[in-house]
Amino acid sequence: MDRGSILLLCSLCLCVSAAMAEEATNHSGVYNVEKYGARGDGKHDDTKAFAAAWVAACADSGSPTFEIPRRIYLVGPLRLVGPCSNTGTFTLKVHGVVKASTDMSLFKTQEWILFAYLKYLKVTGTGTFDGQGAAAWPLNQCHFQKMCKLLPVSFKFAFMENTRVEGITSLNPKFFHVALLNNTNFRIQRVTLTAPQDSPNTDGIHLEGCTGVKILQCKIGTGDDCISVGQGNTDVYINGILCGPGHGISVGSLGRYPDEKDVNGLVVTGCTLTNTTNGIRIKSWQASPLVTSARNMTFDNVIAYNVANPIIIDQNYCPYKNGCPQLWPSGVKLSNIKFNNFRGTSTTPVAVKLQCSARYPCKKIKIQDINLSYKGEEPAVSACANVMKASYKGKQVPPPCQ
Ligand SMILES: *[C@@H]1O[C@H](CO)[C@@H](O)[C@H](O)[C@H]1NC(C)=O
Ligand SMILES: *[C@@H]1O[C@H](CO)[C@@H](O)[C@H](O)[C@H]1NC(C)=O
Ligand SMILES: *[C@@H]1O[C@H](CO)[C@@H](O)[C@H](O)[C@H]1NC(C)=O
Ligand SMILES: *[C@@H]1O[C@H](CO)[C@@H](O)[C@H](O)[C@H]1NC(C)=O
Repeated sequence: MDRGSILLLCSLCLCVSAAMAEEATNHSGVYNVEKYGARGDGKHDDTKAFAAAWVAACADSGSPTFEIPRRIYLVGPLRLVGPCSNTGTFTLKVHGVVKASTDMSLFKTQEWILFAYLKYLKVTGTGTFDGQGAAAWPLNQCHFQKMCKLLPVSFKFAFMENTRVEGITSLNPKFFHVALLNNTNFRIQRVTLTAPQDSPNTDGIHLEGCTGVKILQCKIGTGDDCISVGQGNTDVYINGILCGPGHGISVGSLGRYPDEKDVNGLVVTGCTLTNTTNGIRIKSWQASPLVTSARNMTFDNVIAYNVANPIIIDQNYCPYKNGCPQLWPSGVKLSNIKFNNFRGTSTTPVAVKLQCSARYPCKKIKIQDINLSYKGEEPAVSACANVMKASYKGKQVPPPCQ
């Protein structure tokens, strides 16, 4: 599906932090949304109170805490945009339930909650952000046509430095749960992301243009990719993810837009995928407008139960039947990719599928200790195209193609 365009940030440029005009205070205060007028009855729109608490917290030059108590708050789009004055950690603590408005006319931009240009933000607590997506899902056409209006993601983090997100739950987003754009040093851990299996484009965590991302111990069951690592990411570490239902953990889709950057340095380790359409998938579009690369990636200690395509490289990605010239293969160069210690069951006979680009065959693929059966009974098979220099070690079930 269409990912790059969600990250267009034109609207951001217009953002001016109201807080900059405020006089800075330095008392590491607690900014409780109820003190700024939030009613927390789940019916009245509390957006203004949240925005006012934000402006005050943003002016605090110590270590402010923005606090959302244990009630139910209804809020429309929130733009929590810096730079803020904090010199220490800026904590956003959520205990209650924050529900997104279902009035789509309020959403002029592509996110419900936008965090941007902040340093040392920590989002924590046991609270839930409910995107109330069910009413919006029928409006989404992006999963079957190229030209479509993008619905708002529940969270966008853009141009952030040193961010931690932990503990929270995201429920039923209108579009993605979490989009990360151009962040450095971002860690998200122990979050729960939940949406129905058939909800359209409810990707768990999508990232682009980020450096130094850790995604740890998350439980993700949703309608699209649990995690998708898009273009321009460097040094991404993913560990301890439980994924399912969903479309698995993906790199891509890559090679669709002319301004894309390389992917370099990804480790996915200790993850379990259950009842997903893919396990680990690397996908790139046919007919890429320019040549990029995705390299230095390790997928290690992965369990895939009841998964349609446990290991799949698909460089012929073209979800909308037309507009992909067959004779112009993907310009994304894949190299130095290791799959180590996979086990589980495939629901299709082809458990390992490596369909690389005819223009740039995959290089330096290493496959070691794989044990994937077809439905737990019959032997599965491998299928490959345009794979150069693959090496195989240890257990190989299914047997390699070459
Ligand atoms: C976003 O990150 C990418 C990759 O790190 C970088 O090339 C690009 O210039 C950044 N974009 C902006 C608008 O900062
Ligand atoms: C490969 O990726 C790892 C993990 O992100 C990183 O530490 C290493 O520097 C990368 N190596 C190269 C050659 O880019
Ligand atoms: C996977 O699907 C099976 C059969 O439909 C179901 O019994 C099981 O609970 C599912 N497991 C998970 C973790 O979703
Ligand atoms: C593969 O896994 C199956 C089921 O867990 C096990 O019975 C079998 O011995 C394993 N095969 C190899 C070669 O390790």
